[in-house]
Amino acid sequence: MEGVRRVTTQTFRQMKAAGSPIAVLTAYDYTMARILDGAGVDALLVGDSASNVVAGHETTLPITLEHMIYHAQCVVRAVKRALVIVDLPFGAYQGNSKEALISSIRVMKEAGAHAVKIEGGVAVVSAIERILEAGIPVMGHLGLTPQSIYRFGTYKVRAQDPVEADQLQKDAFALEKAGCFAIVLEKIPAKLAEKISASLRIPTIGIGAGNACDGQVLVTHDALGLNNDFHPRFVRHYVNLTESISEAVRGYVADVRSRSFPSSEESY
Ligand code: KIV
Repeated sequence: MEGVRRVTTQTFRQMKAAGSPIAVLTAYDYTMARILDGAGVDALLVGDSASNVVAGHETTLPITLEHMIYHAQCVVRAVKRALVIVDLPFGAYQGNSKEALISSIRVMKEAGAHAVKIEGGVAVVSAIERILEAGIPVMGHLGLTPQSIYRFGTYKVRAQDPVEADQLQKDAFALEKAGCFAIVLEKIPAKLAEKISASLRIPTIGIGAGNACDGQVLVTHDALGLNNDFHPRFVRHYVNLTESISEAVRGYVADVRSRSFPSSEESY
């Protein structure tokens, strides 16, 4: 939404009401967060996808709360306008609602984040309620929830059968009722995401969930072509930074080897 000086959870609600799509990207470091914020993204998600794209792990499970707080601190320092939402990592909230609250308070206090995100439906409602009681906004995350990858056994599209689709709708209502300010819908059929988006008062943010969601999120490394080995249907590559960076670095290496860098103008 243009003209908004600082995006808040209230802005998310207003954008849904106005039918104004919400643009979200992930961020994990200061430099990239500064660029994304300056380019007008509405929210930055400090995703636990940092475990994959920053740390090189196969799944999101290994990343710790300390790592997430570090990434969030870097992002918060850069941001002037966007809402900064931070993933609670695997193991930082599933134990009980008190653990979820303590983890959320650390994220808010130590990083200066604006909200937390939690994966799961009905099973995490008590944790969400407890976090909200402390005044911390919570975003939900349904559909393909990568922290449960070993239970799913596959990254394929979720909720294709009526039983899972029905449960997903119940989960979405439970999260709205619990007080979530928005819900990420990941890799579910577009028709189902459309139905859920139309039936909720809070915005849905889709990733692989079609264009009827109230907003979209992508992993920045995917959108900018920094992760060229990953080609799921839902990713649009806006630029091929792997190519651009490789070309630039090849130029640098050649210039160093030929002693054409630095030139006399680049020397003291
Ligand atoms: O960790 C992450 O980047 C996410 C998005 C894919 C929604 O949760």
